[in-house]
Amino acid sequence: AWRPDEDDRPRLAASGPVKVRVPAKINLHLGVGPARDDGYHELSTVYHAISLYDELTARRGDTLTLTMEGEGAGELALDESNLVIRAARALAHHTGMPAHARLHLRKQIPLSAGLAGGSADAAAALVACDALWGTGLSRDDLAAIAADLGSDVPFLVYGGTALGTGRGEAVSPVLARPNTWHWVVAIADGGLSTPDVYRELDRLRSTGEVPRLPTHSTNPLLGGADRLLAALRQRDPAVLGAALDNELQPAALSLRPSLAGVLKAGHAAGALTGLVSGSGPTCVFLAPDSRRAKEIADDLTVAGVCRVAYTAHGPVAGARVA
Ligand code: C5P
Repeated sequence: AWRPDEDDRPRLAASGPVKVRVPAKINLHLGVGPARDDGYHELSTVYHAISLYDELTARRGDTLTLTMEGEGAGELALDESNLVIRAARALAHHTGMPAHARLHLRKQIPLSAGLAGGSADAAAALVACDALWGTGLSRDDLAAIAADLGSDVPFLVYGGTALGTGRGEAVSPVLARPNTWHWVVAIADGGLSTPDVYRELDRLRSTGEVPRLPTHSTNPLLGGADRLLAALRQRDPAVLGAALDNELQPAALSLRPSLAGVLKAGHAAGALTGLVSGSGPTCVFLAPDSRRAKEIADDLTVAGVCRVAYTAHGPVAGARVA
């Protein structure tokens, strides 16, 4: 139920347009358990928000509408199936407000890329409509609504670096001394379907092509994120690089074998480590510093192994009014 928040979030409806910026996510660790009865896989993941952003602007209106520009414009349905519209409706339902807003999305995060772009936009819609309507919900309230919209949406309400469990929707922040990590994000031509990649992992595990999950353990994921969390605390890029790990990677590589060449090219260009981001096909590379991140991005672009390579840093905040 709606309750006013005790923090300093706006409680009055905004008079002008509300602009919200929301980051992409990568997974520094992604441990995948067996498929559950509801079809989702139990996860143990370390989320990390990086400085590649979408921007959502919300204005007053008599109905709920969505327009967009940038990545995916013309491909993405803007109707009731769109996660942004579903997020606005969920907030309206939860607060008893009429779902009235004119929303405009400027997308830089590509679709079906393993960067949670759609989930980011849903988180942005919750934050933007909360400010536009003056409903003043806390981050925790917004994250609770977010969990029903998608597994990654609660994390993008918070941002930073966080541990995700359950199907990814149960998020707790990682408290670490502040440090900035430098990444190169290699965007592929075309996306990969997340359900397809999870299904491929199940298949590879059933045929023994990747190790089967231990059957003796009640929780095969226990401890999986520990090594990564310990590495984060050391603030040494070489140490973090050695701990990065994604159990969906073999499945993404199986469906898109050319990603092996992208990973190889990043390594040749001087990256400490490269890995597939989430369910892919984006590959991310850890660089020793920002200067070398720029060099690696330039090398990958020249090598022609990806559509575009961006530099980014993390961690950054989640969906916020700009
Ligand atoms: O939660 P979300 O809608 O983003 O998930 C998209 C799809 O990814 C799910 O329908 C499911 O096939 C797969 N998935 C999964 N296990 C998770 C998260 C997602 O199998 N923990």
